[in-house]
Amino acid sequence: MMMGGGGGGGGGGEKGSGLRKIRMQIATELVVAVVFNLVMCVPGEVVGGVVRQHSFYVRPPAASASRSFAVDKLPQQQKKSSSSGTDPDQMHVSLAGPGQMKVTWVTASEVPASVQYGKTSGQFTKIASGVTKQYSYIFYESDLIHHVILGPLEPSTIYFYRCGGFGPEYNFTTPPPAGPNVPIKFAVVGDLGQTDWTASTLEHIATLDYDVLLFAGDLSYADFYQPRWDTFGQLVSPYANYRPWMVTEGNHEIEHIPFLTESFRSYNTRWEMPYNESGSSSNLYYSFEVAAAHILMLGSYTDFDTNSPQFKWLQADLEKVDRSKTPWLIAVLHAPWYNSNSAHQGEGNKMMAAMESTLYAAKVDIMFAGHVHAYERAQRAYLMKPDPCGIMYITIGDGGNREGLATTWLDPQPVWSVLRESSFGHGELDIVNATHAYWSWHRNDDAEPVMADSLWITSLSTAESRCVSSNLKAVIQSHSTH
Ligand SMILES: [Fe+2]
Repeated sequence: MMMGGGGGGGGGGEKGSGLRKIRMQIATELVVAVVFNLVMCVPGEVVGGVVRQHSFYVRPPAASASRSFAVDKLPQQQKKSSSSGTDPDQMHVSLAGPGQMKVTWVTASEVPASVQYGKTSGQFTKIASGVTKQYSYIFYESDLIHHVILGPLEPSTIYFYRCGGFGPEYNFTTPPPAGPNVPIKFAVVGDLGQTDWTASTLEHIATLDYDVLLFAGDLSYADFYQPRWDTFGQLVSPYANYRPWMVTEGNHEIEHIPFLTESFRSYNTRWEMPYNESGSSSNLYYSFEVAAAHILMLGSYTDFDTNSPQFKWLQADLEKVDRSKTPWLIAVLHAPWYNSNSAHQGEGNKMMAAMESTLYAAKVDIMFAGHVHAYERAQRAYLMKPDPCGIMYITIGDGGNREGLATTWLDPQPVWSVLRESSFGHGELDIVNATHAYWSWHRNDDAEPVMADSLWITSLSTAESRCVSSNLKAVIQSHSTH
């Protein structure tokens, strides 16, 4: 068994008695309360042990008392894995390189880190093996977290699978094959948390026949209290066990306690993305290709300056992009670069200053961000000005977490900002072919088919685009000579 993950480690074996768990829970809550106040009540964010100063934003209380946070109260029950101990819990699937998918699940008891699978229900003709991880966090000890990569798999195919040789059968659908004109539908969310608002977002998304979910960070809002990672895993499992969820980190994933725990211990152990497969050395930034799209999953909370490993990786990754094969180039990160809400104002500026010229030269089509709990769509822009060859910036941090909506907007509205609204919801990106995609934003307060915002987007890689010629190599060269 492989122990640890993201630097975390911990012992396996028998779990403690009920009394011991209650004592540990009380102690954990006390420590979390103290640490939360110490760490969160400073005007900055802890990033890799360094506090980055920014404007101190105090989010207003939730807008509606009638929306109780029923799901968020679950952690008080210290609910962890299923009672059987061997049945899979907290499942999610993700893409893991061409023709491969990863199944992740949690058990209380030891089971083989293996997945049986096949194309016919009840007939598991193949088996794949992986690794089991576990981490400790102050007084909390995680259950066993299993990661298994399956493949080679056929595209657009339903696979039936069973985890660890026990329990029920599940199925997932693989994404469409590679190809510049192959259609694909993405569901796009950010800042989910685990409230009734979250449940509404998930119910809306569940009605879609989407292929891949893109998640712009801030997943569980555990905020140091680790049982919330378990309840979040249980909440999303019915939605994430049949379609791949691809995530990047938000500030709520940091959970760094000086001298006690390194950053992202829980996130890196539980939500392991295909960073190795894309040449990255960190789970905090990576890329993947699916159908007609190359997706950059960037990290707002790890180093991003022009000398950083992330920036070097990004340059190398962009140079490998072949727009004749993947005409759509999309970036996902947490802290928005173009934001006209008073919440988190300017927090993406340093990363934008470092990377925008490179992404502009690479002709990135769309950048999705979270962090601000609202929806905002900008027109294509560069250097804070509308630019037909710039990136279309979309903030989609309205997944439904316990902090509520960000309701205060800058006045006047910047010229690049097209539409902004403080409502919970999600987005859908329907790539139709090499040249056209349809974007729509859907409020939770409406029925799923209702589009609160929508437009056709033309890829910057197309022959019709005035932005085909790229000076990416020159921009990369200019950074390397500084
Ligand atoms: Fe955030």
